[in-house]
Amino acid sequence: MTLDPASAELFIRRHTVIASPPIVPEVSLYLATEITPIWQATEAELAAAEVPPPFWAFAWAGGQALARHVLDHPDLVAGRRVLDFGSGSGLCGIAAALAGAACVRAVDIDSIACAVIGINAALNGVVLEIESADIIDGPTRADLILVGDMCYEKPLAARLLRWLRQAVAQGAIVLLGDPGRNYSPAEGVEEIARYLVPTSLELEDRTERSAAVWVLLP
Ligand SMILES: C[S@@+](CC[C@H](N)C(=O)[O-])C[C@H]1O[C@@H](n2cnc3c(N)ncnc32)[C@H](O)[C@@H]1O
Repeated sequence: MTLDPASAELFIRRHTVIASPPIVPEVSLYLATEITPIWQATEAELAAAEVPPPFWAFAWAGGQALARHVLDHPDLVAGRRVLDFGSGSGLCGIAAALAGAACVRAVDIDSIACAVIGINAALNGVVLEIESADIIDGPTRADLILVGDMCYEKPLAARLLRWLRQAVAQGAIVLLGDPGRNYSPAEGVEEIARYLVPTSLELEDRTERSAAVWVLLP
């Protein structure tokens, strides 16, 4: 089940504020300031719509590292068709659009994430193609795939990495931003950058995380 766009927008505006991720100050996003209230509000107000937890309300450490890297290396994205997979707030896709991508498709399984991606894109003056779907195992239609902080669940990471390696074999470049999640790939990646990302104790149980940007090898 999905939430209608007007209700999603109302929920987003009621439970978030405009802020910038610590290491990506040039991007503004609608973000939650604390976890518990938005988690509880999602359960209390949106239970009937069976929406997933509000991952979209945070700029995750892996996504921040990837967005920072893209903004600092516009040659990586300039003129390319970019897919921001598991886009959440839209951070990586927005960074790619700001850095000169030919077009950016932001995909997330959560319909509220897709609503916030549209709102956040407009806030930053960029246009993204937004899709709420599980496209794993489907065509990527991209030259460059950005994957911010997606290796947090075993079955998801396994499916995702298998699909991404196929995309690499077909010629796409895949960049992962990851702060050492439990199901990050242990091999078949090359580290191209690393960033120290300030985090909240409540979200990460620590005040900073070291997040890598990896290129997925064939
Ligand atoms: C930890 S968040 C990362 C969000 C963003 N990339 C970032 O780094 O801030 C993971 C996101 O992946 C999305 N997601 C999970 N499974 C997915 C799937 N099969 N297809 C698309 N998106 C998915 C979730 O809804 C969530 O928004």
